[in-house]
Amino acid sequence: MGEHIDTLLKVSRVIDPPADLRAHAYIQDYDTAYRQSIADPEKFWDSIARELEWFSPWRQVLEWNYPWAKWFVGATCNIAYNCLDRHVKSWRKNKVAIIWVGEQGEERFFTYAELFRQVNQCANALKALGLRQGDRVTIYLPKIPEQIIAMLACARLGLIHSVVYSGFSAPALRSRIQDAEARLIITADVGYDRGKVIPLKPVVDEAIVQCPTIEKTVVVRREHPGMALSAPNEIDWTDWLADQSAHCDPVPVDAETPLYILYTSGTTGKPKGVVHVHGGYMVGTYITTKYVFDLKDEDVYFCVADPGWVTGHSYIVYGPLLNGATILTAEGKPDYPNPGRWWNLIARYGVSIFYTTPTAIRLLMKYGEDWPRRYDLSSLRILGSVGEPINPEAWEWFHRVTGGTHPIMDTWWQTETGMIMVTPLPCVPLKPGSATKPFLGVEADVVDREGHSVGTGGGFAVIKKPWPAMMRTIYKDPDRYLTYWNTIPNCYTAGDICHKDQDGYFWFMGRADDVVKVAGNRIGTAEVESALVSHEAVVEAAVIGKPHKTAGEMIKAFVILAQGYQESPELLNDLKAHVLKQLGKIAVPQEIEVVTALPKTRSGKIMRRVLKAKELGQDPGDISTLEE
Ligand code: WT7
Repeated sequence: MGEHIDTLLKVSRVIDPPADLRAHAYIQDYDTAYRQSIADPEKFWDSIARELEWFSPWRQVLEWNYPWAKWFVGATCNIAYNCLDRHVKSWRKNKVAIIWVGEQGEERFFTYAELFRQVNQCANALKALGLRQGDRVTIYLPKIPEQIIAMLACARLGLIHSVVYSGFSAPALRSRIQDAEARLIITADVGYDRGKVIPLKPVVDEAIVQCPTIEKTVVVRREHPGMALSAPNEIDWTDWLADQSAHCDPVPVDAETPLYILYTSGTTGKPKGVVHVHGGYMVGTYITTKYVFDLKDEDVYFCVADPGWVTGHSYIVYGPLLNGATILTAEGKPDYPNPGRWWNLIARYGVSIFYTTPTAIRLLMKYGEDWPRRYDLSSLRILGSVGEPINPEAWEWFHRVTGGTHPIMDTWWQTETGMIMVTPLPCVPLKPGSATKPFLGVEADVVDREGHSVGTGGGFAVIKKPWPAMMRTIYKDPDRYLTYWNTIPNCYTAGDICHKDQDGYFWFMGRADDVVKVAGNRIGTAEVESALVSHEAVVEAAVIGKPHKTAGEMIKAFVILAQGYQESPELLNDLKAHVLKQLGKIAVPQEIEVVTALPKTRSGKIMRRVLKAKELGQDPGDISTLEE
């Protein structure tokens, strides 16, 4: 990318917040609230932290040794305690915490008290296996309530959970288990996808062959009759919990104690284990959920994410439960059994807050406006979008079909940031396609390579001060953590390019590095490339992202074949099947092109931007480092 970042912004309309919504919102005047928060961020975060329960107080809000942060220094707390016990002690005891709808139409309700009981039983079952504070547990489950129960049970004991998205294949799961050195894996017999049965346990069996740290496998059995398990290493979830007491004291942990590891893609083939901690993450997810969605006790909150990704961690599980919300979560795709699926759920459960993704909106757009029109969506009041830039066309469609008045919170953040960073609040005037402004207490900016603010214009999205939910490190790889903070001086570099307009609104424009966003999921080109070259027919591979109508971006691969191999439709299909096996469906290239050479720098690095420019018919920019 050159020094100059072009932007193709269309002039857009400004939409003022509905007056009644604003009048009842927690934050009614963003500018004043933001100015105050940023004048003394530590004071701001201190006051927010006091809304939650701590076992012992902090000596200091922030200890900042660039770029290492400690928040709420010396305090003890437990995030699961704040998600459950705090509510069970109150009138919320019998409030519905989770409404779960399965792909086959099943329905399960958990009150706060019931969720509390099952989490405690699970925590006792974890203890019975001899797991101790700091041990890692890999959770490889489909989107079922046990996924949430297992996460909270780990948190309750100070165990570190590593949730792996159930769409990942055995080798991808294996490398994540190996990196985390997990002692336990929790899985299910199967998942369901558009009516198809997806076996999961066999994937685990294949993965753990080379995972000597795994001692036991717990299996949630959904199918009848249940698949055979071999005792004593394989345990049925129901049996595992059966005799456990529904009381388990939460473990008070230091605020900086790791809560989870979540693997995300970067520019190398090895996924990064992003580490979040109990205290700061709790404060950040709690307040962003509350203020961004203006979450009140009467709301029914529906977030379509999967806890396999960070959105599910922060905005299905932790943030909403910290707020005592009623959460709707549904297994399955937005168009199965028909494209009315989500609209139907909104009508049926009276959803008032609906948090979704641009890729899902674009998919539903294809089916037309008749689908949403068929349902009573009058319970809605606030909408949300996350994962990639939302194009103004999709924004307008979403806004229109849901009633034409509800504000859309276009929330920008990352696995690494833990919490929403740039976003509207319900009182902020909206511009379709813009994530608007930084959240309270967050100093976000757009800068040039030297870290100078661009004022108005294009540049790199950065955060200039630490924030409580920031990742603390990359698991077992502190050097990789440092790269976020030493790319641009005195800033956390997000890796996104962004344009700031004359009103100070942020317009995110995608990644600056070699990361592709397929249907909102971040996929490292290097990971796909290494999967391709692990096939005997491929000697070299380069992967780029290409614009795609519904998925945002799609993966295109260029491959050089080994001697003796000829291009054929069979071979290309075989390569796709190979990537499917290595990484899973989301990483399979839609297009594979066989080439005889790849553009490289003199030092041998593949210049993906040259490939991309050529593919898209654009100017490749500075190619002075190109070998030929
Ligand atoms: C990357 C982070 C955030 C949770 C889900 C994805 C892109 C995310 C937006 C948005 C424009 C967005 C960025 C970011 N992104 N939200 N509202 N507008 N871009 O988390 O997988 O860690 O990906 O997603 O490029 O860096 P992630």
